[in-house]
Amino acid sequence: MKKGTTIYLYELAWILPSIAIPVGMLAALTVTAFGAGIHLPSVAGRVEPPNAQVAPFDKPGVTEVGPGRYEVVLTGQIWTFTPAEIRIPAGSTVTFLATSRDVVHGLIVPGVNVNTMLLPGQVARVTARFDRPGEYPMICHEYCGIAHHMMGGRIIVEPRS
Ligand code: CUA
Repeated sequence: MKKGTTIYLYELAWILPSIAIPVGMLAALTVTAFGAGIHLPSVAGRVEPPNAQVAPFDKPGVTEVGPGRYEVVLTGQIWTFTPAEIRIPAGSTVTFLATSRDVVHGLIVPGVNVNTMLLPGQVARVTARFDRPGEYPMICHEYCGIAHHMMGGRIIVEPRS
């Protein structure tokens, strides 16, 4: 093989993956965003005034909105969630409407698709299905002050009888 051809093949061996990798990533992103419906938790509304003493956040809690469907109105404030304990039967689909009463907090529930920020003045809406009975922690994952590491709650998923 001539020397010039070898260099050309080496260049080609680098150029092709450098095109194929970003194209592959873009394809994966498109498939997950549109095909699998994966998206970031969106802004579901505003809370005015931002201390969240208005409906529905003046009465946080769990409401059954249909067969196997629950709505949780949740607030974060230093350094706890309200309600701090949520009980639902296994197989429930839960929609969280959440906001903060003071500073920026976060809400993550490991094991299910709940991961959002709680911003004062803004409503976050996330929906997750709880199939497996057990205890799921609710964790604040945004640094919110001296007792941030203590801020948590729990979701108790009870087995269906
Ligand atoms: Cu609330 Cu960290």
